[in-house]
Amino acid sequence: MNEIFEAGDRVQLTGPKGIMNTIRLTAGTRFGSHKGEIQHDDIIGKPSGSVIENHNGDQYLALKPLLSDYVLSMPRGAAIVYPKDAAQILVEGDIFPGANVIEAGVGSGALSSYLIRAIGENGKLTSFERRAEFAEIAKGNVENFLGAKPTNWKVVIGDLQEMLPEHCEVASADRVVLDMLAPWECIDAVATAMKPGGLVIIYVATVTQLSRTFEEIRAHGGFTAPLAWESMVRPWHLDGLAVRPEHRMISHTGFLLSARRLAPDTVLPSSRLEEAIRQSTPMRTWTSGYPRQWASDRSVRKSLEKRCARSRTT
Ligand SMILES: C[S@@+](CC[C@H](N)C(=O)[O-])C[C@H]1O[C@@H](n2cnc3c(N)ncnc32)[C@H](O)[C@@H]1O
Repeated sequence: MNEIFEAGDRVQLTGPKGIMNTIRLTAGTRFGSHKGEIQHDDIIGKPSGSVIENHNGDQYLALKPLLSDYVLSMPRGAAIVYPKDAAQILVEGDIFPGANVIEAGVGSGALSSYLIRAIGENGKLTSFERRAEFAEIAKGNVENFLGAKPTNWKVVIGDLQEMLPEHCEVASADRVVLDMLAPWECIDAVATAMKPGGLVIIYVATVTQLSRTFEEIRAHGGFTAPLAWESMVRPWHLDGLAVRPEHRMISHTGFLLSARRLAPDTVLPSSRLEEAIRQSTPMRTWTSGYPRQWASDRSVRKSLEKRCARSRTT
């Protein structure tokens, strides 16, 4: 990235009270606020990280925006994946340069922007979005940030579960990233599209979505046991001796769930045990309490482990 500001670049201006504005540079024009005016020409030619004065002498810090800054301020159709979760998705989802990635839904294009950067020029991202108006917003946001439409990004309008077979060959996707209301409806289609050993990572906002998606993946049988987690980022205040957590934080955004695709006709070694546990703990025991002999999950597991080991040797 060129660090010198040119006409057409976006600039993040931070004013005297920490208030931020993002503008696009156009030679001969000015940015006006109630504090005064800044000439765009005073920024063009300066390096990112410079301090610029408005005509009243107020100082503004001028920086090229980071992607995390940009996604929080860009126009939104649907709610975006927050930067802290995008970071988890990129690392725990193992998004690598050259990967063939499937994504749904596109929403406002925040996650698409991170994915496009992570897969690099040799990767391929195919994003599915059921609402055409959201897809347009997302395309505008991504193009605006990158300065051009990426040639390795295709946006398909429609439901993932219906459109995926048409746009993705069987067993060709390295990674699948889902951020949508009902991901459990897409597990069959996703499984068909994924390479053996591929990884699906799913972002959901509520525990009911998490549980339903988890059960659907487990019931499918073609994946490893899904992992589920959430992440919390607590910002800190540092000022002299006042070193403490900030009073406020974003406490809940969503949960993540990931699983690896098994090779065709593979049955996990542990799945007999998991199946036995599942059949022994029907849904009603979750609500009405375990029978007394199942004092804890651990004791159920232990006795079933023994039973499975016995049946394996007979
Ligand atoms: C929360 S938004 C995605 C936000 C996006 N990840 C971002 O960071 O900007 C969820 C999107 O999924 C879309 N959607 C829901 N179900 C879908 C499906 N089955 N196939 C494709 N898109 C779907 C919705 O229209 C919505 O735009």
